[in-house]
Amino acid sequence: MKKAITLLFALTLAMSLFATSAIVYFSATGNTESVANTLSDLTGAEVFEIVPAVPYTEDDLNYREDDSRANNEQNDPSSRPEISGSFDLSSYDTVYVGFPIWWGRLPKIMYTFFETYDLSGKTVAPFCTSGGSGIETAVNEIRELEPSADVIDGLRTARRYADRDLSSWLEENNLN
Ligand SMILES: Cc1cc2nc3c(=O)[nH]c(=O)nc-3n(C[C@H](O)[C@H](O)[C@H](O)COP(=O)(O)O)c2cc1C
Repeated sequence: MKKAITLLFALTLAMSLFATSAIVYFSATGNTESVANTLSDLTGAEVFEIVPAVPYTEDDLNYREDDSRANNEQNDPSSRPEISGSFDLSSYDTVYVGFPIWWGRLPKIMYTFFETYDLSGKTVAPFCTSGGSGIETAVNEIRELEPSADVIDGLRTARRYADRDLSSWLEENNLN
């Protein structure tokens, strides 16, 4: 019995030591990228950037312009902006996913990401930056897109508070 408990303990310890995390982010103007880099400093997780096949120009991102590219994408349920290149996330247990909030929701390129990468069985830890909107709606979208992943409550932060906010979020959620 004692042996079995020791073995179980050793196994649990080994699993936690070998648990691996990746950070995947999309950032159009650098805010989410900065937060992703802070998260990498705190966790040591490897970072992967979602790069749009067609980069967003300043005009593309003008949300005051009804007909801007970003607004058209957000208003089009079938829009799936192409991602340049690919990465292998199969070996990671936890995937942190970062993005800006666009019109209260996930940018459509994140739909492309979640529909391309099956994160079933993994812990998905969403984080975002925004002008003030919360992350809750985007987290619900992710839960619909990845029904077999454990999608935890997300974190909205800003680059200047990222270190403080991420540290307590990681601790609260037992993440590393
Ligand atoms: C098309 C578009 C829509 C946006 N919609 C919102 C919004 O609904 N709520 C909000 O708080 N911020 C909104 N923002 C602001 C961004 O979420 C914010 O600037 C974010 O930090 C940008 O992150 P990035 O630099 O990583 O791209 C929007 C920005 C763009 C370009």
